[in-house]
Amino acid sequence: MKVLEIHGGKPLIGDVCIGGAKNSSMPIIIASILSKKESIIHNIPHVLDVTNLLKILTDIGVSLTIDGNHTENPSKAIRVSSVNVTSEVLNSKLTSQIRTSILLLGPLLAKNGYAKIARPGGCDIGERKIDLHIMAMERLGAKVIETEHYIEASAVGGRLVGNTITFPAISVGATENAIMASVLAHGTTILENIAIEPEIDDLVNFLNKSGANISKTHERTLTVTGVEELHGCSYYIMPDRIEAATYAMLAAITNGEIKMHHCDFSIFEYLLDVFESVGIEIESFVSPDGISGVVARRSSFGLKPFHIETNPYPLFPTDIQPQLMSLLAITNGKSSIVENIFENRLQHAVELQKLGANIHIDGRKASITGVNTFGGGVVKSSDLRAGAALILAACSTKEKTTVEQAEFIDRGYQTITKNLQRFGCDVKVFYK
Ligand code: EPU
Repeated sequence: MKVLEIHGGKPLIGDVCIGGAKNSSMPIIIASILSKKESIIHNIPHVLDVTNLLKILTDIGVSLTIDGNHTENPSKAIRVSSVNVTSEVLNSKLTSQIRTSILLLGPLLAKNGYAKIARPGGCDIGERKIDLHIMAMERLGAKVIETEHYIEASAVGGRLVGNTITFPAISVGATENAIMASVLAHGTTILENIAIEPEIDDLVNFLNKSGANISKTHERTLTVTGVEELHGCSYYIMPDRIEAATYAMLAAITNGEIKMHHCDFSIFEYLLDVFESVGIEIESFVSPDGISGVVARRSSFGLKPFHIETNPYPLFPTDIQPQLMSLLAITNGKSSIVENIFENRLQHAVELQKLGANIHIDGRKASITGVNTFGGGVVKSSDLRAGAALILAACSTKEKTTVEQAEFIDRGYQTITKNLQRFGCDVKVFYK
């Protein structure tokens, strides 16, 4: 088990390079297997979820080369070549580690007409059903059989056929799977009530650059005209808006100042109202070499209590809900957070309580009464973003905080310990 020992209480000040978005890197790397030609994908973050995905892809015959000398920004470029890819993703040890393995269903079905995938795993934040993924494949003409351990699907007649798919609920992953399945399908597919997270636009841009024909015909509708083949391309992944928002909240909770490079103001726009309301200030800057970035700090009027619910983009994201909870827990006054996306994503509240937070949980709602500061203690990160929330709490207090199961944090934050140390935080890593 990885353990972080943090003595916080100092304003954290410094610079950080924001990596490529984990949540677009993974679908885009997977989408690249649709093409027989090589794709070069730049700005891939060095995070555990991507490493595990690359292991799965190597296992099924995808050829991967990692390029680049990344002394400043550890993000990498990856060349993907997928001439002969098997349709069977049976290594359940690997698929159980990442939820995204389910995204192989659509591309393998589209490419080979058949897919058999061991059930996916991922962070323990809810039931995380896959019914919408299956429904989308069936609408495109696949016959799907689900067993306890596997999902097996065949395209009737060997090739998927375009259709209209109306999602009854918004799902990022099911939208991505349906897009990837339909690009090589025969005819036109209309996808209605889709998720519109920026990472989905990133996937669509990548696919269109590779030769797909996808257009946005309404805010939540895509029209995909199937093509015979894709030709691969060179593509630069968007910056990780969740990593960037986490560093902005770290600056605010420690009353420091963090300058973020390799990202621009636009990735914060959907958050500006909430950030302004809770007291996080975001400003763009241009460095001496002419490259723009974003600087974050606590607003001059200080932190303020707030009431918020998580919802699909462009509303407040579930992936920074835990971090916001840390901030509100030491903000004078009464706040509340309702988690609408995942039914089990308030586990960090219990850990924050161990550090002295005053949080009452009722179903999906956390009612928070701000305390002056966190005390120290020993806490466990239950998932990636919960771990980030505990780091924020630990950095804000002078008392010693020990964060156990910190390996979860490496799933989505590259070089986070080094970054904290560079900002002036006293953090030690050990294993037990
Ligand atoms: N859902 C269903 N049936 C389905 C699919 C989803 O009921 O077939 C439900 C889920 O159980 C959940 C809700 O729909 O309650 C939303 O799930 P969604 O499919 O949108 O999430 P996801 O694709 O599994 C991605 C991100 C998550 C992020 C969510 C929501 C990736 C790799 N993961 O997950 O990121 O929280 O969208 O924005 O893109 C993270 O980075 O920490 C993370 C968990």
